[in-house]
Amino acid sequence: MQYSEKVLEHFMHPHNVGKMEAPDATATEGSPACGDQVTVYLKIDKDKLVIDDVTFLSYGCASNIATGSIITDLAKGKTLEEAKKITWRDAMEALDGLPPVKVHCSVLAADTLQSAISNYEIANGLKEIPNFSKDTILEEMKKIIYPKVGEDIVSLKMVKYIGFSDGEVLIDLNIPSFDQWRDNIAEEIREHLEKYPDVKNIQINM
Ligand code: FES
Repeated sequence: MQYSEKVLEHFMHPHNVGKMEAPDATATEGSPACGDQVTVYLKIDKDKLVIDDVTFLSYGCASNIATGSIITDLAKGKTLEEAKKITWRDAMEALDGLPPVKVHCSVLAADTLQSAISNYEIANGLKEIPNFSKDTILEEMKKIIYPKVGEDIVSLKMVKYIGFSDGEVLIDLNIPSFDQWRDNIAEEIREHLEKYPDVKNIQINM
């Protein structure tokens, strides 16, 4: 597998690694795609709402460690509003790219940073816990990467329809029956949505 110089550099000498003592917010997320995990710790300037410090622990692969390193570099010193705009695409760009089958590792790191920020905002009354809706499902779909090309399934127009009512999720996918990743994608969708208590049943049509 071909990694950029930047990925190798951040993997060998990752920045901002380690558990933070008395953080203002944390989040731990796991990747349904591979079972790996990342934790992000934040120290926030409460008056200016600026990220004073951010560290991470990764139980993931080289790509995940490299993304954790670069994304914490990108977030440090930013206001919460600025940091909320940092995506896995920014991290990938800053790393000079990742192989398509490794893009989900950068999604995991970026997602965990966003969860930590969201946890801080909820705990400090800066935002309400959002209601589960079709938008929540759509946001989760955007985190699922089609490994062949390293893009999310929403951008690739693989999600034809999303429905949600009375705990029943209905998703129509546009993936041909001969596609080798078809079952993985369906499995990942289930794993992303099953964690929500509002979801009682998931039906995926392909
Ligand atoms: Fe699991 Fe990369 S393979 S984080």
